[in-house]
Amino acid sequence: MGNSQLDERILILAPVGRDGPAMAGLLAEHGFTVTLCESSGDLRARIGEGAGALLLTEEALELAQLPELLGRLQKQPSWSELPLIVLTHGGESRLARLLDTIASAAGGITLLERPLGTATLVRAVEVAIRSRRRQYRVRDLIQESASQIATLRENERTIRMQEERLRRVEKLAAAGQLAASLAHEINNPLAAVTNALYILQNFSALPAETTNLVNTAAAELARVSRIVKQSLSYYRVDRVPKEIDLAEILEESLHIFEEKFRKAGLEVSTRIRPQMVILGFGDEIRQAIDNLLLNAIEATPKGGRLAVSLHWSRDRRDRRQPGVARLTIADTGSGIPREQLSRLFEPFFTTKAEKGNGLGLWVVRGIVAKHDGSIRIRSSVRDGHRGTAVSILWPAPQKGSPSHEGHGQVSYSI
Ligand SMILES: Nc1ncnc2c1ncn2[C@@H]1O[C@H](COP(=O)(O)OP(=O)(O)OP(=O)(O)O)[C@@H](O)[C@H]1O
Ligand SMILES: [Mg+2]
Repeated sequence: MGNSQLDERILILAPVGRDGPAMAGLLAEHGFTVTLCESSGDLRARIGEGAGALLLTEEALELAQLPELLGRLQKQPSWSELPLIVLTHGGESRLARLLDTIASAAGGITLLERPLGTATLVRAVEVAIRSRRRQYRVRDLIQESASQIATLRENERTIRMQEERLRRVEKLAAAGQLAASLAHEINNPLAAVTNALYILQNFSALPAETTNLVNTAAAELARVSRIVKQSLSYYRVDRVPKEIDLAEILEESLHIFEEKFRKAGLEVSTRIRPQMVILGFGDEIRQAIDNLLLNAIEATPKGGRLAVSLHWSRDRRDRRQPGVARLTIADTGSGIPREQLSRLFEPFFTTKAEKGNGLGLWVVRGIVAKHDGSIRIRSSVRDGHRGTAVSILWPAPQKGSPSHEGHGQVSYSI
């Protein structure tokens, strides 16, 4: 039986005599789909499969399972009022009270007095089915509006998300511009003060105690200069790669981060091979390293450890390939759950709510791709093994031979 037939079929329950089969035959002859039910339980089960109307004799209402049938009818969804036709004995029904109860449960009830003409029965069933069809139309409309509401909600959510992203991009662009112009403005007075201190440092008439103070001021000022220089370089886009010393850049970054490490209570160990010269863009590499260091600091609780290493390495799978400079920043921080690994490099993916923009690794990937390098991430969230190690493989300078590592290729392992 197809769905539409189930939706419009007449369920008949007539436990006494030949009423059931007789009515079923008659209605089938008039084109109705009919199911003759054996018991009240059978009727209940079939209502669940789909029904257009119920046709019951008064005797059926006297069955012991009537309360369950009533319960089933009361459970109908809001759009449904399954039409109920009850054949009664003429005059005042013995079951008047029962009929009232069932009418309140079913909603639409039609009483037909026996003896009953064929035309009356057929007509009553037709009316019941027409009423049922109207209910189905209401059901369809409800479903349609529910799905429209869901689509609207989804659209609204997407728009809100896009607005949020846009807000972040704007904030970031504004912050970038502000940082660049601030750094620029600070640069000039900084140069003047640096010069003045230099003159003071070389002023022989100065008492020793004062010279010490001047030396401290000069050293601190040199640090400020480095930071300003770096902030400026973030927004400068180099076009031609130069020979740069990765080790030097890494040491510089670590130096600038010293205060941050101390504040975060982290122990930092380094194994950096000196003179690691590659062809690249120094300012951008510095930015990539800083982003990785920041992530490691942000993920690692007080008392944690960071291990930073830089050395030449060969591809283990193909030793004939040229070497790469392997820079690794490992931490004993939170680790990254497996399901997040593949999303790390998406722009705006962050687990730091308002504190993160989710752009750090995205920028790193861009920079590494520009250098024809690749990124490897190993991470674990298992207790006792928690932590993350991010390695960047920078191709060694090879005249005329493209790197084997691919453009910003990323691989993960846990
Ligand atoms: N060392 C790490 N340990 C644990 N999780 C990390 C680590 N590095 C990155 N992550 C995860 O990757 C996410 C994306 O990092 P990404 O640097 O791109 O953005 P962010 O740090 O959240 O924000 P932003 O760098 O823009 O301030 C982080 O939110 C964090 O969940
Ligand atoms: Mg970050």
